[in-house]
Amino acid sequence: GAAAAVIYNKPGEKGPVNGTVEKVAPIPVVGPSYRVGSELAKAAKKGGLSLRVRTDAVHGKRSASNVIADTRRGRAGNVVVAGAHLDSVPAGPGINDNATGAAALLAVAEKIGKLGAKDVRNRVRFAWWGAEEEGLVGSTHYVKSLGAAARGRIALDLNFDMLGSPNGTRAVYDGDHSARLGTVPPAGSGAIEKTFRDYFAGRRLPVTQTPFDGRSDYGPFVAKGIPSGGIETGAEGVKTAAEAKAYGGKAGKAYDPCYHAKCDRMRNVDLKLLDTNVDAVAYVTQRFAASTLPVNG
Ligand code: PHE
Ligand code: ZN
Ligand code: ZN
Ligand code: ZN
Repeated sequence: GAAAAVIYNKPGEKGPVNGTVEKVAPIPVVGPSYRVGSELAKAAKKGGLSLRVRTDAVHGKRSASNVIADTRRGRAGNVVVAGAHLDSVPAGPGINDNATGAAALLAVAEKIGKLGAKDVRNRVRFAWWGAEEEGLVGSTHYVKSLGAAARGRIALDLNFDMLGSPNGTRAVYDGDHSARLGTVPPAGSGAIEKTFRDYFAGRRLPVTQTPFDGRSDYGPFVAKGIPSGGIETGAEGVKTAAEAKAYGGKAGKAYDPCYHAKCDRMRNVDLKLLDTNVDAVAYVTQRFAASTLPVNG
């Protein structure tokens, strides 16, 4: 029969998936949810996605939206959430933080309809969160809006926030160690961490870890005991000498010198780093869409 469709680069394969990075990076430039919504609506017409746009988070006098799109395929009782925040801080356009994560997710959402029933056994819920920068407002509202039963149908949450820092590293959330005193991460978060690590290891790409501290939209999921994971490439933290050796770039300088600043523009993205990360977003999402059964370790 026909080979199963694959939407990421396999180990040894080079380059973007069908020009994904170049094509998608500019889409959510100033983060308007209608723009992501219209791209998704186009993908939905081709099949595979159903679309729900919810204006469901209110901050002060302003409202913000979560854009949520579910695959039609897959079990509703075992949902894989994959999210990225769509807003930026008022100080800048928010291209690395977080058009990179939002665009990566969009690239996968646009293609997932090509996969068959055996590839998408679990429903995938793509979520573009609003008002992350105001204190995880959109994701917190979403998790709270679910009853205990609906929360129980969520198998895990994947989070993508800052995927192309110009002086970045490839950092996986340290899912088997809590960065919060006295808390234990939800079981399964370590397995998600391992899935990302194994993907990069298979491509001989360097990988590091970053504290699982809830500083992005996976926090509200973890707080409710939902296993979570994801990747990031660094914000205001400073690159070490060892990291500069592994990744290149400048030791002693911030991973993203334009973090939350006016200069977080298109030029502020390392497209090669972003490309490998988009592949990881696609691979891990597809892996858990097929099965959320535990991986070893
Ligand atoms: N959530 C932060 C933001 O959007 C990014 C970040 C995550 C920074 C984790 C540091 C560590 O601004
Ligand atoms: Zn930010
Ligand atoms: Zn962010
Ligand atoms: Zn660990």
